[in-house]
Amino acid sequence: MNLEFRYVESIDSTNNELKRQGAEGLKEGVVLSAGMQTAGRGRLGHSWESPKSDSVATSILLRPTVSIENVSRLTILAAMAVSRMTEELYGLERQIKWPNDVLIHEKKICGILTEMILKDNRPDYVIIGIGVNVHQTEFPEDIRDKATSIDLELPSGRASRRAVTESIWTNFMKYYEDFQKTEDLAAVVEEYNAHLVNLGREVRVLDPLGEYSGICEGIDATGALLVRREGEVVRVDSGEVSVRGIYGYV
Ligand code: BTN
Repeated sequence: MNLEFRYVESIDSTNNELKRQGAEGLKEGVVLSAGMQTAGRGRLGHSWESPKSDSVATSILLRPTVSIENVSRLTILAAMAVSRMTEELYGLERQIKWPNDVLIHEKKICGILTEMILKDNRPDYVIIGIGVNVHQTEFPEDIRDKATSIDLELPSGRASRRAVTESIWTNFMKYYEDFQKTEDLAAVVEEYNAHLVNLGREVRVLDPLGEYSGICEGIDATGALLVRREGEVVRVDSGEVSVRGIYGYV
């Protein structure tokens, strides 16, 4: 499948726009990026700031043939594509915090919002939106300790928003084409775990039925996090997991 890159200076949200165009039959593989978003959206109903020309705000429209329950695995592949970009373009060490946080020097550089539109109880189309901090030099007080931008982490020079966008989606497509065949993450587990900052570290699982700690053993082919706890390995499917030493968890 071929990618088609489109760019607009300003839009409410690249996810919203592709959703609208998806309803009109837009083909798979169109990538829409914007210089700025006036109503960028984050996960859990939060808003997402895309400061003018400082960040990448980019979304892709996909028409995957996978079943509903496996669509969320695409977000893991998107995180892998972003982390691969940091290494490929800028030689920065790749780091992922389970499930989808992409870090540089243990600080977050991007957010990913995957949305699925159903038809007859099957995924009709899926939008994956990615916001990457590229040129920002400062962040709001509440996220200052946790967030960074590519420029801030580069020893010298300045990142290119266009190169960042193209690298992310080109890498993503390689993962996506394999994933469509198997619908699982078996082919990428090793690569993912090699860059997982949680690996071998103590993690705290904020389970609504009771918090617990254990040692992280990586993900399995479903994308679940494996946590060794009192001699037993527990599968964590979703929810909040903190890692000792990251984002101030001690
Ligand atoms: C998060 O809350 O971490 C996810 C943020 C996702 C932001 C991106 S920017 C491009 C796309 N358009 C949106 O409105 N949101 C996503």
